Amino acid sequence: MTSPAAELSTQPDRVSSLALHGGSPVCAQPVAFMKPGLHREDIDAAHAVLESGMLRAAGQCDALEKEFADKSDAKIGLTCANGTCALQLAYGSLLERGDEVIVPAWTYIATASMLVAHGCKPIFCDSREDTFQIDVEDARQRITPNTKAIACTHLYGTPVDIDAVQALAKEFNLKVIYDAAQAHLATYNGKGLGAFGDAVTYSFYATKNLGTGEGGMVTVNDDDLARTIGLLRSHGETDKYLHGHIGFNYRMNDITGAIGLSRLGRLEAETNARRKAADAYTAKLAQIPGIVPPTVTPGADAAWHLYTIKLDLDIITCTRDLFADALRAEGVPCAVHYPRSLTDQPAFADVVTDHPPVARSLARRVLCLPMHHELTDGDVDRVCEAVAKIASAYSA
Ligand SMILES: Cc1ncc(COP(=O)(O)O)c(C=O)c1O
Repeated sequence: MTSPAAELSTQPDRVSSLALHGGSPVCAQPVAFMKPGLHREDIDAAHAVLESGMLRAAGQCDALEKEFADKSDAKIGLTCANGTCALQLAYGSLLERGDEVIVPAWTYIATASMLVAHGCKPIFCDSREDTFQIDVEDARQRITPNTKAIACTHLYGTPVDIDAVQALAKEFNLKVIYDAAQAHLATYNGKGLGAFGDAVTYSFYATKNLGTGEGGMVTVNDDDLARTIGLLRSHGETDKYLHGHIGFNYRMNDITGAIGLSRLGRLEAETNARRKAADAYTAKLAQIPGIVPPTVTPGADAAWHLYTIKLDLDIITCTRDLFADALRAEGVPCAVHYPRSLTDQPAFADVVTDHPPVARSLARRVLCLPMHHELTDGDVDRVCEAVAKIASAYSA
């Protein structure tokens, strides 16, 4: 609920008209935040696998690997149990214990926590205020003789400045792992994300643009690396019950593979629908004082897993959390990705050396609006109307 202090410098008439205070909501029927629903054909594909009795990773996973790698401009795809395992497989095959790895403080925890799980030292760097993506100049300042890699996320589905990351990596002979858990089918300079870096990892978690419940993928362009990842994925088994290396069981299964393959057939059209909705949002939200729509990296075409705005807290007089409550009351679900910088996560207390300022500041200002492939022009209009209503109520 609102505290009196949180409502200083507001427009009292407009505040009292907010649904949060009993006014009528902009959306009589709430807009959906996301649409992870399966189609009949996905259910039929999973059903066919169940009837076949071949439940382990087999033909469906093989086909998903091939098709997903093709669509992402990668040579080889390797399915796995989830996006966290995908990161562990990539790190485990490219990095040594003790390596320092530059990672943005502004990302989901797994990008950095799986470095720690592998015995590497995450070196947290800052992100760009405009695109939310890794700040390559800040990354440069943090390179030491022990730095061996950069692990960065195409956050919210927007590709990072890949040219700049690759140039830095080349200059200092660093490996590059891209976490594309949120960026299926995004492109950079006209190419799929699989064309860049040493390994690219994906999540197929239920709410992702390609959701299978749980699931993941690593794409690579090197046969030897693919072989190493394949061994790590399945107990280092080089021959039947012959284990040359310590590995894991991070395999996918064919029910998941079939759902992924079926959904992949629609993913390009669904991604384009997200892009259309994002353009419509940006055109409208840019007109609202106090609201800053997201900026896409030059040369990139985003996948828009999340559409994330920033509040300009010099103009908006309430907290982001109060703004979010007010928006929900208007019938617009919203979410905060993420409420804190990774350097403020207790789990990293032992490895944090400083707090990159943009990451910390974004944690107070970002808000994700509804985004999915079925968002209509009317939905976008209503969401923007609700944002404008709240922004004008809580403005200086
Ligand atoms: C950026 C990022 N990396 C990694 C992951 C981990 O993926 P999973 O949940 O499939 O393990 C996620 C999932 O939310 C993510 O958003």
